[in-house]
Amino acid sequence: MALIASLVLLAWIVAGLVQDRTSTWFELDLALRARLVVTGSRASLAADWMPERRAELERQLAEIASDERVMALAACGLDGEMLASTPGFPGQFGCRGIGSLARAGNASPEAPYREWSSVSRLPSGGIHSSAIPITQGGSQIGFLILLQDMSYAERREDLARTLLITSFGALGLLASLLTILAARLSRKAWGAEVRGILQGEKTYQPDFQPILRDVHDLVERILYDQENAPEIWTAERLKQTLRRHLHGERLVIVANREPYIHQHAPDGGIHAVHPASGLVTALEPVMRACSGVWVAHGSGAADREVVDKHDRVRVPPSEESYQIRRIWLTPEEEQGYYYGFSNEGLWPLCHVAHTRPKFVAEDWAHYKAINERFANAVCQEVDTDDPIILVQDYHFALVPALIRRRLPAATVIMFWHIPWPNSERISICPWHREIISGLLGSSIVGFHTQFHCNNFIDSADSYLEARIDREQHAVVRRGHTTLIRPYPISLEWPVRWLDSLPAPEECRRQVWDQLGLKPDALLGLGVDRLDYTKGIEERFLAVERLLDRCPEYRGRFSFVQVAAPSRTKIGLYSQLNDRVEELAARINERFKTEDSRPIILLRSHHEPPDVFRFFRAADLCYVSSLHDGMNLVAKEFVAAREDMLGVLILSQFAGAAKQLTEALIVNPYDIEQASRALEAALRMPQTEQQVRMRSMRSLIARFNVYRWAGDMLVDAARLRSRERLAERLTAIDDFSH
Ligand code: G6P
Repeated sequence: MALIASLVLLAWIVAGLVQDRTSTWFELDLALRARLVVTGSRASLAADWMPERRAELERQLAEIASDERVMALAACGLDGEMLASTPGFPGQFGCRGIGSLARAGNASPEAPYREWSSVSRLPSGGIHSSAIPITQGGSQIGFLILLQDMSYAERREDLARTLLITSFGALGLLASLLTILAARLSRKAWGAEVRGILQGEKTYQPDFQPILRDVHDLVERILYDQENAPEIWTAERLKQTLRRHLHGERLVIVANREPYIHQHAPDGGIHAVHPASGLVTALEPVMRACSGVWVAHGSGAADREVVDKHDRVRVPPSEESYQIRRIWLTPEEEQGYYYGFSNEGLWPLCHVAHTRPKFVAEDWAHYKAINERFANAVCQEVDTDDPIILVQDYHFALVPALIRRRLPAATVIMFWHIPWPNSERISICPWHREIISGLLGSSIVGFHTQFHCNNFIDSADSYLEARIDREQHAVVRRGHTTLIRPYPISLEWPVRWLDSLPAPEECRRQVWDQLGLKPDALLGLGVDRLDYTKGIEERFLAVERLLDRCPEYRGRFSFVQVAAPSRTKIGLYSQLNDRVEELAARINERFKTEDSRPIILLRSHHEPPDVFRFFRAADLCYVSSLHDGMNLVAKEFVAAREDMLGVLILSQFAGAAKQLTEALIVNPYDIEQASRALEAALRMPQTEQQVRMRSMRSLIARFNVYRWAGDMLVDAARLRSRERLAERLTAIDDFSH
């Protein structure tokens, strides 16, 4: 008992000491930051330091205040008059009051100002204020007041205190065990000594100070290194970013497609399948890194059998690093919300693939109801009133506004994974205003390209009463600001599926065996969901044209198409399936030989390791999307080619073409051009393949999915801290009146 009491007392004393020290460090840091901020701008500030140049001075102050921790600034003349300030500068920090403090100890009005700083603890949090003299040609011309937010320092102090008390808890436990052990084993002198120390007869407080200083230095160095680290983002760095900027709050993702679909296996067991979805490919590694919960439609036949009573299941199956919260839909709901409004309405509306969108009032009613259901589930899953929620894709256009209504302080990031059409085209949807307005409930709306951002901004401008802030790329509506930003999505790097695969030559051997190819065969590859936006027919026609033009490839070149069945209940998809099959049969009929056929159509779901085996084996990969937000298949092919070989042929209408410029970029409608690209790929010397591949690989490595998520989260964190500072400034004003 005495031991525990001593440890609690010790923890208390040391926690106090640590808090004291860390407070002092933070205050010194803030004073130093204030000095540094001014040092960089001193000359240009001095040049505008006069009442006639108020506008220029205000502009400079606003620029300095763009640093997220700087709350407000004011420029004060020698006589204590305010020359300029940032908007909303709080009255109680006026020039005269601060000026007299900066002259403290010398009441003479002619005495020079000295550097001064202080901390005000207000009910809404701490404010650090500094006065920094401004000089010109060796004489003082006034001083600058700089107010900084201390909330981050307070959070770090809390964290340090919690860490310390937890460590003492663990130490206490360990000490108790040791004490028992020591008492049992012997009554030797060292045992008594240890017990003496543990029971608080000796204090070690002074010894903690150098250690704590070292820890502080180390923490600061690590944080600095991470923020200035080379360009590669990793899962760990994303995790740190989340912790640092968003204080480790867990992520809630809402996406229709779940990352693991549970199915009954032929052996009677249950197994988890990875769906063919670019969205899942990109987001799953983010969830593994950040943990949290993924709210999705439970679409697997065995999904209900593996969830707990809250409809949650931990995944990935062997790691269990995050949860899926499953939402159940009746067949009618699925028909209206998923097949109907999402995939027969919005999908063809947003993709220019010449498929007429269908908008049916009943489908819209289901879409609204299901969006409500998902928004409610999200609100149940969050554990604060200002959570970070990532809403994904066109299935949930209404969810951001629904969440905002329930959780006004939430940070909602909406990412739209498909193209956004121009404003004239979006108005084809009878409920386009509701769709745009729903999305504007977000804090940030992200698209793959700037072009789609511009289309969205134009749509908001055309159909809603909203102000467009073109400089910030934001839409302001009813006092709420939504940033509209491009974030090109990507892959985890390195891709984990490659770990379990053999080297490319071995993959090639396995694929050659599987497809029965001759040793000198050449192999082209396509990997897609069977979807009319992917240009699969145009791709086959390009292969046919190649064989027409270049007889030397007949009997030697084969094109394997891995086609995952998709949305098969929609008539257009099953018709596409039939057309693709017929086309492959026709071309095969024309060019087949005794031991080869030009088109090998594999129409079934393939798990990622099988797909990556094909990527590693092929001589070329042709991504011929007629229109695509990004297309991650193009990036997956590049990621698979650690041997730097293989050629990517890429449609100019896929978002990926903006990034992967070393691919052979083609217009998939231009069959002649595409067939020439196939020929060029087959003839390309290995040295050229390597140069192109290396460059694309380095781009994907730098712009990987951790960076994609990190960029969005950092932008969200900045936005959050701005909003909190704005609230705090209002609170200060209220407090001072
Ligand atoms: C596209 C969409 C995703 C979707 C994927 C697969 O990539 O942007 O949201 O998950 O297609 O489609 P599915 O309808 O099977 O989820």
